Amino acid sequence: MTCPVFPKPAKNKASLWKVFFTKRHSWLDALYERSYRMKMGEFKLPGLRLYMVNQPELVRKIMVQDVNQFPKNRLLGEILEPLLGESIFTTNGEQWQKQRNMLDPAFKHTRVQQVFGLMQAAVVDMSARLKAHQPGQDIDPEMTFVTADIIFRTIMSTELAPGQAQRILDAFTHFQAESPKLALLKMFRVPGFIQRGLSERKRLTSARDIRTTIEDIIRPRYEQAEAARAGCPQSRAALEQQQDILSSLLQATDAESGQPFSFNEIVDQISMLFLAGHETSASALTWSLYLLALYPDIQEQAYAEVTQVLAEQGMSVEALRKMVLVRDCFREALRLYPPVGFLSRECSHATEMRGKKMPAGSSVMISPWLIHRHQDFWDNPHGFDPGRFTGKTLKMPLSKSYLPFGAGPRVCIGAAFAQQEASLILATILRDYRFTLADDFVPKPVGRLTIRSQNGMKLTLIPRATPGDTPR
Ligand code: HEM
Repeated sequence: MTCPVFPKPAKNKASLWKVFFTKRHSWLDALYERSYRMKMGEFKLPGLRLYMVNQPELVRKIMVQDVNQFPKNRLLGEILEPLLGESIFTTNGEQWQKQRNMLDPAFKHTRVQQVFGLMQAAVVDMSARLKAHQPGQDIDPEMTFVTADIIFRTIMSTELAPGQAQRILDAFTHFQAESPKLALLKMFRVPGFIQRGLSERKRLTSARDIRTTIEDIIRPRYEQAEAARAGCPQSRAALEQQQDILSSLLQATDAESGQPFSFNEIVDQISMLFLAGHETSASALTWSLYLLALYPDIQEQAYAEVTQVLAEQGMSVEALRKMVLVRDCFREALRLYPPVGFLSRECSHATEMRGKKMPAGSSVMISPWLIHRHQDFWDNPHGFDPGRFTGKTLKMPLSKSYLPFGAGPRVCIGAAFAQQEASLILATILRDYRFTLADDFVPKPVGRLTIRSQNGMKLTLIPRATPGDTPR
């Protein structure tokens, strides 16, 4: 049976120097055969210690039990700072807790259901664009567009105009492509002026472009919220009427100080939600479509499920909940191609794991990519089997072996949002098209900020009936 593609690991571990010089374009290329079997790996260089931790008990210790001893890695903060400022994704300690408390209400389950209509409007527009999809055309840009559009509509009630979208998405592609290189330059403590020369300039310009667009959208809304706080009844009414996530953030206040987010803090959080919210979902959706195209039988079963549910009711949160196979295909895509392939932490204190002494400041990596494909944790680890999530005995409970959204207090805030959006997009495409991979096309997975296919995802869409004519 065809096995979904994954980069063939090298036989042996490459030195970190070799990784630096030859494999800096994709994290995945630095993995070797034993990476998929080991419980913990260690990489040493003068001044640099890096530990890769796969053993479930240790992963739990780092991410759930002793989180304060394993904060987010400073390197990650430095890399993402030009785009995200001091956002929840990279902060630690009290600053993170305050941000999380203020963001959580915007992502509560009921709130996610409230934005269904906004998501659906973006997906209806996607259906219209897909009618122009050419045989064998890359579907990845459309997945990136629709997920970015959903974020703009649900977070800021703004549609992405095609020109504006292209500018932002191009800027983000530059930012994303340069980031792993910069991570290695920083890890190897390459002096700052060389980092700037080699990698930083393009990234900084890209980050600036994205932030300027976001600032322009937020400024009038922020001024309106300030006027509402100063007692203007019209501004208060307008603020309360808006259903989007930005309005929830503009009304949030810190429990202790009673202070709202400042303008810059809001821009940081929204830029982060844009990055964390569209890039990850786009990656997962593109891989889901790949897997469904590779396994036509499962695609037909999922199509039958979608048509059966939609014969009884319109597309709704309730209908999506009944599409169990669609959900499980997405879950399996997240297992095989977890968009965030590596979670990066550091040791705040010296510690010891599996007999290895880890000095304070060491980098610790937890890899959903490796854990999801570990041969001791999964049967048929590299195979596509959406049925494994329902009714089968798993080799290890999911709570120990499956972490596409992370785990513990820093678990993804947008997991329910992502699941709802993905089921909606997949159900819509399954309803409207049968899809196949272009002849001889094989995607090439690369690990950058997220796991994407370097050569896109070339699909042919064959209409089932009259696709997308009626927004159902
Ligand atoms: C398939 C889609 C998604 C995947 C696979 C995903 C994955 C993740 C992972 C693995 C983390 C934890 C990172 C770590 O521990 O280092 C995370 C954190 C986060 N994600 Fe997601 N994410 C997705 C979609 C979203 C969406 C749609 C949003 C918001 C609109 C979002 C917002 C966030 C935020 C704010 C955090 C930081 C939480 C914190 O540190 O407290 N994500 N995500």
